[in-house]
This record gives sequence, C-alpha cells and structure tokens, in this order.
Amino acid sequence: VALTKPGRPVPGTDFAPVAPNTADALVVPPGFRQNVVIRWGDPVVPGAPAFDPAKQTAAAQAKQFGYNNDFVGLIPTGHNSYFMVVNHEYTTEVQMFPSYDANNPTREQVEIAWAAHGLSVVQVEKDREGGLKVVPSRYGRRITLDTGFEVRGPAAGSQYLKTSADPSGRRVRGTQNNCSGGVTPWGTVLSGEENFHQYFANADKVTDPVAQARLKRYGVGTGTSTRKWERFDKRWDVAQEPNEPNRFGWVVEIDPNDPHSTPVKHTALGRFKHEAANIKITGDGRVAVYSGDDERFDYIYKFVSKGKYKPGTSTHARRHNMALLDEGTLYVAKFTGDSPGEIDGTGKLPSDGEFDGTGEWLPLASGDKSFVDGFTAEEVYVFTRLAADKAGATKMDRPEDIEPNPVNGRIYAALTNNSDRGAAGKAGADEVNPRNGNKNGHILEWEEVHGDAASTKFSWRLLLVCGDPATADTYFGGFPKNQVSPISCPDNVAFDPYGNLWISTDGNALGSNDGLFSVPVAGPERGHVKQFLTVPIGAETCGPVVTRDFVVVAVQHPGENGTPSAPTSHWPDGGTSPARPAVVSVWRD
Ligand code: FEO
Ligand code: CA
Ligand code: CA
Ligand code: CA
Repeated sequence: VALTKPGRPVPGTDFAPVAPNTADALVVPPGFRQNVVIRWGDPVVPGAPAFDPAKQTAAAQAKQFGYNNDFVGLIPTGHNSYFMVVNHEYTTEVQMFPSYDANNPTREQVEIAWAAHGLSVVQVEKDREGGLKVVPSRYGRRITLDTGFEVRGPAAGSQYLKTSADPSGRRVRGTQNNCSGGVTPWGTVLSGEENFHQYFANADKVTDPVAQARLKRYGVGTGTSTRKWERFDKRWDVAQEPNEPNRFGWVVEIDPNDPHSTPVKHTALGRFKHEAANIKITGDGRVAVYSGDDERFDYIYKFVSKGKYKPGTSTHARRHNMALLDEGTLYVAKFTGDSPGEIDGTGKLPSDGEFDGTGEWLPLASGDKSFVDGFTAEEVYVFTRLAADKAGATKMDRPEDIEPNPVNGRIYAALTNNSDRGAAGKAGADEVNPRNGNKNGHILEWEEVHGDAASTKFSWRLLLVCGDPATADTYFGGFPKNQVSPISCPDNVAFDPYGNLWISTDGNALGSNDGLFSVPVAGPERGHVKQFLTVPIGAETCGPVVTRDFVVVAVQHPGENGTPSAPTSHWPDGGTSPARPAVVSVWRD
C-alpha cells in the first residue's frame, strides 16, 4: 500500500498537494518517483524498428506506439503483470514532422498519421523500483486506421453504413479519435470514437436535405479538411462517399488476449462523439454501459443489455460476454432540478444548499423497436443525436468521462466546460449545469434507484463546481474552500480501490498546467480536492489508472501551445528533441 503511508488510516490520498505551475515537466509530490513507460515511436509490435523522427515511415509507425495517447486500460495478466491498452486520439502533424506544409502534406506523412491513430496493446510489469516497464510480448499489437473492424449490433449492415469499399455495411477500415474508454469485466477494452467529424471534407456538397441535416448535427467537415486526407483516399470526401462518416462515432471493443482478434464496432450503443464507455453490472446481472457525448449541449447515455453477464474467464464465458453489447436498450438522460427558479447562472447555491434533483432515462430504441416518433430503430442507432433531441434529453456542458464508483455504486461524470451556456440563442443555466459561460466545468454524481444500474430513474447532485476556490461561483462538496486545490476543466474520472475519485483535466482555464487530482466522495473529507501531479506545458492529463501502489497517466499533446519555430516543450527527452506524448507511471519512493 505505497500510496498510503503504512499505519495511516486515511487511505488513498495521503500526499502533499502539488502547487499549480507552468513547468515543462511532470511534477509529483515529495516522496514520489516517476518513469516514462512508453512514448510515441517506441516499439509495440515485435520487430518494430527504432524511432527516428527525421526519417519516420508509415510502415515503422504501424509497429510503433502511436501519437497523442489518451485512455490507458490495465488488464491483469499475472502477479504485477498487465496488458496495457492505450488510445491514440489524434495527430499533430506540425509537431510530428520536421518539415510539414499544411497546404501540401505528402502521401507518406498522411499514411504515417493514419498509422499513428488507433490503439496500442503492450504488456507491462511492475519493476523492482515500483514503476511499470514494457516487456517484449507476442501480444504487442497496433490497431490503426487500416485495421479491419466488424460492425455488430442492430445497425450492422444498415443502408447508412454501406460504401463503395464495403457494400455489406459490416466491415469498417479502422478507428479514429479514440478518446477515453473503459475495461470490461470480461477483460476487453471499450474505446470511444470521439471527434471523428473533423477528418472529413465536403459535407456541404451533399444535396439531399435529410442527409445534409444529419451531417450538420454531427459537425462533419465542410469544404477542404484541415489534414487534406481526401486527396489521398476518397473515403474522406463526403461528396464521393456520403456514408463514410456514419462508420465512425461508435464504441469499439478490443480483445488484448488475442492479438489476431477482429475488433468490433458496437452499433447498439448509438453513434455520437463517444468520450468513453464504462460498465456497471445491474441488479439482475445484466450490463449497463454509460457514455457521454462530448459536445456543448449534448447528452449522457446509458445502454442496458438484454443478456446477463457470466463471471469467469472460460472461453465459453468470454464468448458469451463479448456478445452482450449486441442487444439491449439505449437510453438518454433527462435531469430535473429541485430548486426551480433559484438558478441565476452565476453558480450561486440554491437555498437548499445543493445543486441536486432527480432524473430519468428516456428509452430511445431496443433491438429493432424505436421509442422515438419519426425515427426507425436503425435511424436511432446511426443518428442518435437527432433522436435524443426529439426525445427531450437534457443539454449538458460537454459530457466527458463517466464511471461507476466500485465502492459506493454511484456514477460520476465530468462536464468539462461550456462557454456557450447562456449565450444568445443557446440554452441558459439550469440546476445540473448551473453557470452561464461555464469556463471551468463541474462534476456530477448520481445514484440509480435502489443502486440498480438497470433503473430508469435516479437522484443526482453536483459534487464539484470547479474553478478557483477563491471565487464565489465554485463549490467543493461543502468542504472548506481555503483547503482545496484549484481545479479546472475535468475530463477523465477514475477511482482508486478505496472509492476516492481521481480527476484529470484538459484545458485548465486558470492559467496553469493541467493535472491529476484526488477527491474523497464520502465522510468529512468529501470535496477535499488535492492536486497529485501536473503535466508538462501544453499537455492534457489522460489515462488515469490509480491502484493501491502506483498511478498511471497519459500525457497527451505536450507543447501543443507552441510552434515549430518556438516550441514550448521538449518533454520527456529534453534538449532540443521534439515533445513526445507518453505514458508515465508514478509510485511512492
Ligand atoms: Fe477527447 Fe472529450 O476529450
Ligand atoms: Ca437544489
Ligand atoms: Ca477526453
Ligand atoms: Ca475513466
């Protein structure tokens, strides 16, 4: 129990908080150590060539650790040994290539970018010092924008998924913008395809008004795309392949136990900008999957399977469990506050002392049955955002990671920010999104009725209204604000084995680097936010995984606020080296 000093009864958060800073370093509390576990370009697949940033090739990248690591999942494979599955959300070409002309990318650069997307699977072990290290493994695997995926669930084979390259609508090439995710009880990883819209061109040239409205609701790219991929593969040109965008925006499932397995896209969980997907077993043994749609004024969703989870690791149980997400009911959340008329958009607490209320899960579709007027079930799954609009879901402040607490059974969601809340023509503050122009975000906690993830009703409250604790518009669960760390733009959530919530941030609006924070959710320490680490300048903090004796974070886009002529970060290699996204482990010395 290294994160907690021996003999101390308060578990999990026994460290001196790190002060806000703008260092080009990963800063941890006194008494802790750190190492880089793996960074962009390091070998993943057996036989991967050494990384040479000046002479990178697509063939090399397809065997090496990809760019912009986000989610990190650890799946135990033995004593102190794990599969580590990591998402590579997107590429930052101007930082990846010594010479990059954004108006004229080369084919090689574009193909390197395709190979730098997706996921990596490596094996890691805890070394003698206490950190994680990568060990050579036949399970090493890269999944990229060229890996074949099987489409499963009720929209597999849909007319909306068919393209000239895939007339079946059941085989998709690749995954992209994999942001966060979750480890399933059966040892696979779910990964959310988030900002897939940005890689497409010419959605404005689609003339059918129904198709046009759908593309617009998802923000699919118009005109020339930023990365110009449409010059190298017509699938990125919506005018030529109008259904290709519909083949992204899904939750995908990867099985690290079989490096030859075909990864899956799960249509039953709906299509939107999935931040992540995390599972809780229902009272009767089924599987509930929570997922947020990370866009201003978008929604929180839940899927509940038809079949029941079979515990155990037998081949039979695993095959059964890996089919659970094929069939079930998809819901979207509606929140109602209990202090109507008292929310003025300033973040001032209502007279009952809480931002709180009740909520319900509105069914959207189940199997081939739609619950939304004017939508077939197929349309609900493929154009989920439009169906949820029609159903009357609550517009949220960018729902990011959502995860059940394994100790108290409640569900926690990060709502990262929403500068447009209360703007002209936009929804104003309500009790669950209580600040107009919300720059710093908040943390939502809810409890399903009877603690059962299959319930269609719940109660909720805000745990944190983030920001500078010295300002009146913040709330730290009632804990004295002069004792907490400032926190801004919560993105990922995770739990340690004691049930403390850990929050990583992206886009700190308070002017310091992003970081990782702990906060107890029960007892007198509820709301006591403490900063555990800060990441290098320009980076966001991802991952995170918090065990009894180590913490793992992914440092995404270090130095992204710089330019090639004025880089802000050379982390982690130092000197004049390019900044490299990397996964870091931290342990008590
Ligand atoms: Fe990729 Fe919503 O963070
Ligand atoms: Ca209230
Ligand atoms: Ca995120
Ligand atoms: Ca998480």
